[in-house]
Amino acid sequence: MNDTAATLPPLPCYLNGEFTTLREARVSVMDRGFIFGDGIYEVVPVYAGRPFRFEHHFARLDRSLAELRMENPLTLAQWRELVDQLVQAYARHVAQPAAETNQLVYIQITRGVAMRDHVMQFGIPPTVFAMANRMALYTPEQRAAGFTCITADDFRWKKAHIKSTSLAGAVLSRQMSADVGAIETIMFRDGMLSEASSSNVWVVKNGKVYGSPRDNLVLEGIRYGLIEQLCRDAGVPFELRRIPRDEVFQADELLLSSATKEVLPVTTLDGKSVGNGKPGPIYEKLYAGYQSAKRSS
Ligand code: PDD
Repeated sequence: MNDTAATLPPLPCYLNGEFTTLREARVSVMDRGFIFGDGIYEVVPVYAGRPFRFEHHFARLDRSLAELRMENPLTLAQWRELVDQLVQAYARHVAQPAAETNQLVYIQITRGVAMRDHVMQFGIPPTVFAMANRMALYTPEQRAAGFTCITADDFRWKKAHIKSTSLAGAVLSRQMSADVGAIETIMFRDGMLSEASSSNVWVVKNGKVYGSPRDNLVLEGIRYGLIEQLCRDAGVPFELRRIPRDEVFQADELLLSSATKEVLPVTTLDGKSVGNGKPGPIYEKLYAGYQSAKRSS
């Protein structure tokens, strides 16, 4: 058999109760995650060996599971133990103390293995997978230069609030920006901002931060609550409401947030400068706040 998994790095991972590596882990071809994308996932940043906003990520995991009518196979304490064990396994893999590593833990739960039928199967054991990898942070030079995005129609489904592994819409929209060397594709539904293919979007105008409402059209990033809190701490007004396309193009600053991006300044949108074309003061404040939140977590 042509074993393509042999080309993967031998990173530590967890599959259905056992710790193994990406080269060895095997899932059935009849897994409903493989056949239907019938599953959910989480991406948890780990700084200096400590998961960041762990409870928030696992509360969202619970919400995503409930939307797909799946049960959570582990308790919060069991998830915490699993994540801690993976973080230690990755630290051993790179031969560094865990406290000196920044990692990204990916978790996926699918409905499990069954003969193909769209109808949900209940009572079958779910497939539980998790892996740890290094977290690649953007450099100060990249941050100072700012990032480029393009815009596109949001052609995804109307249940974007579920962190589902059915990601063809996100893959297609992200590739549009990748094709032109941009970091993200910022999407609009009926002329209103929703989010980017794998990040949330923040519009700054006259010193105030605006974001899309928490509804079914966006994934409520774990950074949603954090950005709100950082704004409050910095005395920056914050509001969630529908944002028309024009307002995005007339923004003083435009920001992206996600587990891997933290908060990033967008300085070019569809080839046009955002504001004065440089990362702005609200970005600087939120980024500084984010760094101190990491240190005190
Ligand atoms: N993406 N919106 C979408 C569609 C996303 O996929 C993500 C995260 C976010 C930001 O959520 P958070 O702040 O919790 O990372 C918003 C992850 C990182 C991913 O799919 O890899």
